[in-house]
Amino acid sequence: MTHPSLSTRDLTIRFGGHVAVNRVTCDFRPGELTVIVGPNGAGKTTYFNMISGQLVPTEGQVLKDGVDLTRMPASLRARHGVGRAFQLTNLFPRLSVLENIRLAVQAQTGDGRRFFRPVGKFTELTARAERYLEATKLDRVAHLPASALPHGDQRKLEVALLMAMEPDIYMFDEPTAGMSHDHAPDVLELIAEIKHDKSKTVLLVEHKMDVVRRLADRIIVLHNGELIADGAPGEVMDSQLVRDVYLGNAGEMA
Ligand SMILES: Nc1ncnc2c1ncn2[C@@H]1O[C@H](COP(=O)(O)OP(=O)(O)O)[C@@H](O)[C@H]1O
Ligand SMILES: [Mg+2]
Repeated sequence: MTHPSLSTRDLTIRFGGHVAVNRVTCDFRPGELTVIVGPNGAGKTTYFNMISGQLVPTEGQVLKDGVDLTRMPASLRARHGVGRAFQLTNLFPRLSVLENIRLAVQAQTGDGRRFFRPVGKFTELTARAERYLEATKLDRVAHLPASALPHGDQRKLEVALLMAMEPDIYMFDEPTAGMSHDHAPDVLELIAEIKHDKSKTVLLVEHKMDVVRRLADRIIVLHNGELIADGAPGEVMDSQLVRDVYLGNAGEMA
């Protein structure tokens, strides 16, 4: 088995007396898409926040390729290859889709700080941006202002911007929230394609269970902040423990 790219060790956070995430130990490997499920309030987003650096745990560790990220600020973790999709935070609404992606590519290569750029460099940046446009099937809207995109395409643009950062770890927290059933599969397929690059690790919080079963290599289940199941999709979703958790929550998957 390949070495884990990302690990959490006894990761724990308390808010006052409430333990939101409780000693979660888990390894994630390159080429693997792990879906994290669990009822509302289970601690999924909080777990993500401790991995990407929005929250500092009370106890435990976050390791990326063996490097301890636990107390690093989010910006530094991103430079260590931890990439998390956020809803259009780094977007320039009046610039075109292509220009937005090109800026993300430029930021990744570190050329953003250079004032004079040879034309050849600009062409190279554009070529790379166009690859992400194609990968996310946004080429047909390349020249529209980002703000003019329909909701579904905006979510794809978030994926494109994240790809442009070339992280090793891709994290998506309910990327299809608020999307119509027509558009949700597109974005999820896109996310599934990322793992074809065997060097990438994908973590996805998603509740559309039909899709999850198909895309996931592995499912982990959080419940009351604890990791209660971890395994192959069929095995986990059909387990009695997981059924009980969801029946106890009116059968709702979130
Ligand atoms: N900043 C915070 N302060 C206090 N409680 C929080 C905070 N963030 C999350 N929680 C609590 O932690 C628990 C887990 O929340 P969350 O991670 O958002 O769950 P999920 O994403 O699985 O729905 C919830 O009980 C929530 O109210
Ligand atoms: Mg959440």
